[in-house]
Amino acid sequence: MENKRNIWLDADPGIDDAVAFAMAFANRDRLNICGLSSVAGNQTSERVTGNALKLTVFLGAEDVPVVQGAVLPLLREIVPAGDIHGKSGLGYCELPSVEKKPAAENGILFLRDTILGLPEGEKMTLVPTGPLTNIALLLKTFPEVRERIDEIVLMGGSGAGGNVTATAEFNIWADPEAAQIVFGAGLPIVMCGLDVTQQCILTREQILGLYQSDKTVQHAYGEMLRFYLDSPSYKGSDGAAIHDAVTVLYLLHPRLFAGKRMHVEVDCSEGLNRGMTVCDMRRSQLQKPGDVLVLNQVDLPAFQKIVLDTLASYDAVSE
Ligand code: RIB
Ligand code: CA
Repeated sequence: MENKRNIWLDADPGIDDAVAFAMAFANRDRLNICGLSSVAGNQTSERVTGNALKLTVFLGAEDVPVVQGAVLPLLREIVPAGDIHGKSGLGYCELPSVEKKPAAENGILFLRDTILGLPEGEKMTLVPTGPLTNIALLLKTFPEVRERIDEIVLMGGSGAGGNVTATAEFNIWADPEAAQIVFGAGLPIVMCGLDVTQQCILTREQILGLYQSDKTVQHAYGEMLRFYLDSPSYKGSDGAAIHDAVTVLYLLHPRLFAGKRMHVEVDCSEGLNRGMTVCDMRRSQLQKPGDVLVLNQVDLPAFQKIVLDTLASYDAVSE
C-alpha cells in the first residue's frame, strides 16, 4: 500500500462516531481503512453494529469490513446513552436498511488476523471512539499484536472534569477496567479527551444548516446532529461537541491540535471517581512506559471548516 496509514476504527455509533466515519471514508487516499469493529456503548451492540453496517454503505465504503466486538463491558453493566444519541443511536436519522452483514463471527479474532496479516514492516493505528473493551480484549488475548501497533488515537478521558459524571468521560466510565488495561499497555497513545473535544463544536447554526440542506448526506448528518441540540447535554447551548471526529482529524491534520505528554491512569473504583482518568503532569512520572499525548488545543475554525466541507464533499460526488 503506497504510504497510506493503516487504521482500524473501533466505535459505538453514535452520532459523533458517524461523523468520524465520514471524515475517514472521505480520505481513503491517505488512510487505508482496514476495518471497523463495533463495541457496545452509546447503544446496545446490536444497534451500534447495525449502524456501522448502514453507515459504511451510506458513505460509499461498503467494502470496509465491519465486525461485531464486545456486547458488554468487561465487568460493568452496559448503560446506553439513549438520551444523547437516541434510541437508534443516530439521533433523528433513519438510514436505509442494508444487506451487508458483519465480516466474521468474532470481531476480536478478525482484528487480530488483520493486524498480523499486514505486509511485512507495516503497522496498524487503532482509532477507538467508544468504550475500550475490544482493545483491552485484543491486547490481553493476543499480546503478539503489540509490536504491529504503531499508535492508539482514542477519544476518551479528561484531565479536568467529566461529562457522564462530574469526574469521568463516558467512554472510560463505561468500561474503566478496559481503559486501565489500554492505558497501562505501554503503547503510544494520543488521548483526544474532553480537554480538546469539548472545544470541537459545531454551532447550532451550522447544525441547522446541515439539517436544512436538500443534499442527502448533509441532511442526514443534520438529522443526527439536531438530536444533540434537543438533548439534556446541549439544550439551550450554542452548539454541540463532535468528540469522535477529533481522532480522525488529528490523524489527517495533526497541526490543528496541540497537547501535553502525561502519565495517565484510570480510577476503577465504584465511587464518585469511577472512570476518572488521572492525568499526571509531574515530569518525574514521565519516564514510565506508555506516556500519553493529551490533546488540549484546537484551531476551531479550521476544524469546523474541514468537517462541513468533508460532509459536503459526499454530496458533490453524487451530484
Ligand atoms: O464522551 C463522548 C464519547 O462518548 C463519544 O465517543 C460519544 O460517542 C460517546 O461514546
Ligand atoms: Ca463514540
